[in-house]
Amino acid sequence: MRDAAPKTIYLKDYTPFGYMIDAVELTFRLDPTATRVLSRIAFRPNPDASDNRFFLYGENLKLISATIDGNPVDLRAVDDGIEADVPDAPFVWEAEVEINPQANTALEGLYMSNGMYCTQCEPEGFRKITYYPDRPDVMATFDVRIESDLPVMLSNGNPGTVGEGFAEWSDPWPKPAYLFALVAGDLVAHPDQFTTSSGTDVSLNIWVRPGDENKCAFGMEALKKSMSWDEEVYGREYDLNTFNIVAVDDFNMGAMENKGLNIFNSSAVLASPETSTDVNFQRIEAIIAHEYFHNWTGNRITCRDWFQLCLKEGLTVFRDAQFTSDVRSEPVKRIQDVIDLRGRQFPEDNGPLSHPVRPESFQEINNFYTATVYEKGAEVIGMLKRLVGDAAYAEALELYFARHDGQACTIEDWLAVFQDVTGRDLTQFKRWYSQSGTPRLAVEESFADGTYTLTFTQSTPSTPGQPDKAPQVIPVAVGLLGQNGDEVVPTQVLEMTEATQSFTFENLPSKPVASILRGFSAPVILERSTQAAERAFLLAHDTDPFNRWEAGRSLASETLIAMATEDAAPDAAYLDGILAVLRDDGLDPAYRALMLGLPGQSELAGALHERGITPDPMAIWQAIETMKQAMAQTAQDTLPRIYADMQIDGEYRPDAEQSGKRALSGGALALMSRQDGGAQAAAQYGQADNMTQQLSALACLLSAGKGADQLAAFYDQWQDDRLVIDKWFMLQITQASPDAAVETARRLTEHADFNWKNPNRFRAVFGALSMNHAGFHNADGSGYALLADWLIKLNPVNPQTTARMCSAFQTWRRYDADRQALIKVQLDRIADTPDLSRDVAEMITRIRGA
Ligand code: TRP
Ligand code: ZN
Repeated sequence: MRDAAPKTIYLKDYTPFGYMIDAVELTFRLDPTATRVLSRIAFRPNPDASDNRFFLYGENLKLISATIDGNPVDLRAVDDGIEADVPDAPFVWEAEVEINPQANTALEGLYMSNGMYCTQCEPEGFRKITYYPDRPDVMATFDVRIESDLPVMLSNGNPGTVGEGFAEWSDPWPKPAYLFALVAGDLVAHPDQFTTSSGTDVSLNIWVRPGDENKCAFGMEALKKSMSWDEEVYGREYDLNTFNIVAVDDFNMGAMENKGLNIFNSSAVLASPETSTDVNFQRIEAIIAHEYFHNWTGNRITCRDWFQLCLKEGLTVFRDAQFTSDVRSEPVKRIQDVIDLRGRQFPEDNGPLSHPVRPESFQEINNFYTATVYEKGAEVIGMLKRLVGDAAYAEALELYFARHDGQACTIEDWLAVFQDVTGRDLTQFKRWYSQSGTPRLAVEESFADGTYTLTFTQSTPSTPGQPDKAPQVIPVAVGLLGQNGDEVVPTQVLEMTEATQSFTFENLPSKPVASILRGFSAPVILERSTQAAERAFLLAHDTDPFNRWEAGRSLASETLIAMATEDAAPDAAYLDGILAVLRDDGLDPAYRALMLGLPGQSELAGALHERGITPDPMAIWQAIETMKQAMAQTAQDTLPRIYADMQIDGEYRPDAEQSGKRALSGGALALMSRQDGGAQAAAQYGQADNMTQQLSALACLLSAGKGADQLAAFYDQWQDDRLVIDKWFMLQITQASPDAAVETARRLTEHADFNWKNPNRFRAVFGALSMNHAGFHNADGSGYALLADWLIKLNPVNPQTTARMCSAFQTWRRYDADRQALIKVQLDRIADTPDLSRDVAEMITRIRGA
């Protein structure tokens, strides 16, 4: 049992802090186990605050001394920090504390990773560094002095004096403490420079451990591209004379946008053709862009409180998606994002963890860095842009930057700029921020006397804490196709605001075929009782590339569901339609590769649950196997030709064009391997000079139950490269057959390289296990038990990563009573663990439900 009752924080309780800060000065005397942090903070009463209690957060700090205006001060220890009586006038707080970076395995605050000091302060890690009003609405300039004998010492802002054993940094832009960062270590730089549109020279560096210098070039190019793009598209220039990126091996998430000193999980920045896949390259480019774009959407304009997290995250995800669309392919990026949304956000929105894009309460804010806040938050911005149009969106953003630069803002501030620019009332639109759950959008059609009518009905099922739902504003992009496949009505946006609403199209010569929700214009589940023939028609003819893909996807889902539940055979119309797309050399290979993909097992389980059918993981797995076999057979004459056509002469480039070709040849290879016993895959493995092809070949071999020699050779070749060894761990588990997955994972936890305290390695094993749907859901419950064992083990070491991994259980109510009972045992066991972290306790409570 937990001793203290968990404390819930509410959005409605927000009050401003009683004091403002004029300036912060920090000195760090670095030592692995006894770092001293000296702070000098100039406070002054906040005229806008009614509560003048002087309270500073602090966690795991050893207080050495504290004074106010030079006089010793009486501190009262309170929950989460300290309180003191202070003058009703400006005053200076000075304190010295001691902290232990070496013992900090939670990777929040100041910690050590491979001998290097680094920090992670978002959202509430700064309080583990010193006493401070650690909340995003308290902004200040920071001057930092770092003392140590390490060669490289970095902090935010511009570099100042450097001398023997010390370095000084000064950040002129007021910022909340969550954007503070410090790095010190034996690092080497990959340097470059950028001249901003107004002519300021910025020196750029990517800092890495010696040996990783050759993995920085791609990230640096991505950074420069991002800097130019933000100038061209959003008119946003960089605002310091230095921009540093540091790669760190032990990191809880992808990367962090600390002002002028972005810190990256090494997996999110280091890349080379030999060690990284095309997918890795694209992810790195997107994350570099994301963190860079935060400089304006997050840092210059930040969040008033953590309930407003989507203000910076939704907008920054939206911006990085625009960037990727611009530098790569718009339809390909859109399809990838929708696959991701359905894979991660829909299960969250339709299960026990469902919460609004702007939550109204939390116990541990770290648990709300979710697909809903990030990805649905970005979808909401995409809908807003579609509703107001591109020109008004651009104007609103200009106003946002002009009006709120330097401020800590709310969703109300954000929506107000759109209201002011367009005159639109966004009251109903705002429900996208407050109402959780995925809306269902049912469509009916009728045709008479040249008039075609679409009638939509929206409804959202109840979600935790929200039994009743009100209608939302849904932009439905629709185009109509004639019987010969020509577009008779080009895309227009229907604005749905009622529970049920009809839209008519007149003067049509014959009944058209509607292409609905083009570009996935709203994050909803479309319920359309279309016949297979109509889907096949759209797969062949839709002029909207997203919906053309979607038509294939929904045909695939329908037939896979029929196969899994009624023993149906694969739908011939689907097979023929896909084959036609595959053979169409006029289409982008990346797009054709996406067409070749099937819905994942977990997505199908969700679709079955949606229809009131209890999913059987083994039946789903079998249906997909059978379908792949059928695809391989149907396309057997075409696949080798495509595989050959997609081979690339010349130097490897991770760009959209080449990676599209490799994606398609990889898709073809996977199917061919079902016909040739893995011969072509073995040949590719032997010849591969890049990780994309080496890994895709190995995956084909492993899923065919072969490749033992290659797997061992792969380990020998890459044993010194952590990021590649993560792939080695992961691939064995994702490619294992359902009956072998749990045992493979268990065996790998005994491997000498299973450094379970490293989040990337922990995720390589347990993320992979939960991705192997039929394996994880093994009817004997062994997958659930193994994951629970390790969550219990990781809990005291790294609560944040443990809590994230608990979401593997979030879909548990979908499954049969036996599986639910087996999962419940594990959830109870975790809940009953002594000293359960606040992070994990909250997650398990929510997943178990009332
Ligand atoms: N703000 C970061 C981003 O979206 C993510 C982030 C939040 C994070 N908390 C973190 C990263 C903790 C690492 C650790 O870019
Ligand atoms: Zn972000």
